[in-house]
Amino acid sequence: MAAPTEVTDTRFSLPQSALPTAWFNVAPHLASPLDPPLHPATREPVGPDDLAPLFAQELIGQEMSGDPWIDIPGEVLDVLRLWRPTPLVRARRLEAALGTTARIYFKDESVSPAGSHKPNSAVPQAFYNAQEGMTRLSTETGAGQWGTALAFACAQYDLECAVYMVRKSFEQKPYRKVIMETWGGTVVPSPIDEPGHPGSLGAAISDAVRDAVGRDDTHYALGSVLNHVLLHQTVIGLEAQQQLAAAGETRPDVVVAPCGGGSNLGGVALPFLPDASVRLLAAEPASCPTLTQGRYEYDFGDTAGFTPLMNMYTLGHDFVPPGIHAGGLRYHGDSPIISKLVHEGRMEAVAHRQRAVFEANVLFARVEGKVPAPEAGHAIASVIQEANDATAKGEDRVILFNYCGHGLLDLSAYEEYLAGDLVDEP
Ligand SMILES: Cc1ncc(COP(=O)(O)O)c(C=O)c1O
Repeated sequence: MAAPTEVTDTRFSLPQSALPTAWFNVAPHLASPLDPPLHPATREPVGPDDLAPLFAQELIGQEMSGDPWIDIPGEVLDVLRLWRPTPLVRARRLEAALGTTARIYFKDESVSPAGSHKPNSAVPQAFYNAQEGMTRLSTETGAGQWGTALAFACAQYDLECAVYMVRKSFEQKPYRKVIMETWGGTVVPSPIDEPGHPGSLGAAISDAVRDAVGRDDTHYALGSVLNHVLLHQTVIGLEAQQQLAAAGETRPDVVVAPCGGGSNLGGVALPFLPDASVRLLAAEPASCPTLTQGRYEYDFGDTAGFTPLMNMYTLGHDFVPPGIHAGGLRYHGDSPIISKLVHEGRMEAVAHRQRAVFEANVLFARVEGKVPAPEAGHAIASVIQEANDATAKGEDRVILFNYCGHGLLDLSAYEEYLAGDLVDEP
């Protein structure tokens, strides 16, 4: 009989009662206030009334709030408890494969019903809109994760859900449509008026905003970028703080996440911002290098120029990123909060090419078992660089990263990679 192996904990779970009951608002912790969004026509700062045709009042309040904590409604907690708190996992087998001196932890957001972190904001957005009498939400989706999350959330509160999906992803990921329809959503490829166009998040936002402003029963929901979306995602970092303590860690040395519009990165990283000894790191695609090569200036959030202008890193609102598989990272702009932190040097950013991302994902899948979303692979590629750097310097660096979603509906990308057909976009 084989000798029993010693049990070494790799999973740090919290009881459902430990789910945070308030969101962490980063606004009071910033070095200076955020620059205001500007009205697309007048270029004057927008007020709550300007946003009312699109968003629930409660969400507008959160967008502009300076309160350090914002209570999570009980009806939202009830739904979040379907899968939260999510596990914190020590990636010991990845550590062994790399032969690293670093300790690597990840927050497993892939266990949500939609398979990513996105329901953390979809649920409260659907809740507040239903509470304020809306019966329908419109939205954009890139890779399909946000649309999937919103379709799930709308089903919880009896709302209709209209999703405009970036055409390139619509074609690459046919099962996304099926899962959204299973939850009662409707999905159309975007841009709706240019059938041959691969689409972009900016164009899909224009389609979804146009839908919402044209109907009294419909508000618009955005899956990233805005302050209230990052706020909702802070449950990730708040849980991780409790779990790292349970794992015997004082703090992470570096917190890493992929960055498209900044919501999962903000969610895992912002609760650590007040501790100046924690490095924060954004991982983005080399083919849509908003933070590493964009300009820090006011720009529209969408392609058509319907949305307010925000001060952020941008590649220009008419930039159409190459059709990489990490559809959720194909966005010309970025969250104003994340942009400000990068601009002020409080957050670092690195860019990865697509093949290196899939190399990291396949290694992760083979040692840790989980098949990552293409977006998540950007964080994993950064984690491997950080771990190798720590090893070279003989440091026992503690690395926390956000495993923002699984790739089980992204297998066409793996198929291409494994066949040797996946190219690095220019
Ligand atoms: C799995 C996954 N990760 C990351 C992202 C990027 O978005 P964000 O930067 O808002 O987290 C997306 C966006 O769709 C996504 O689907």
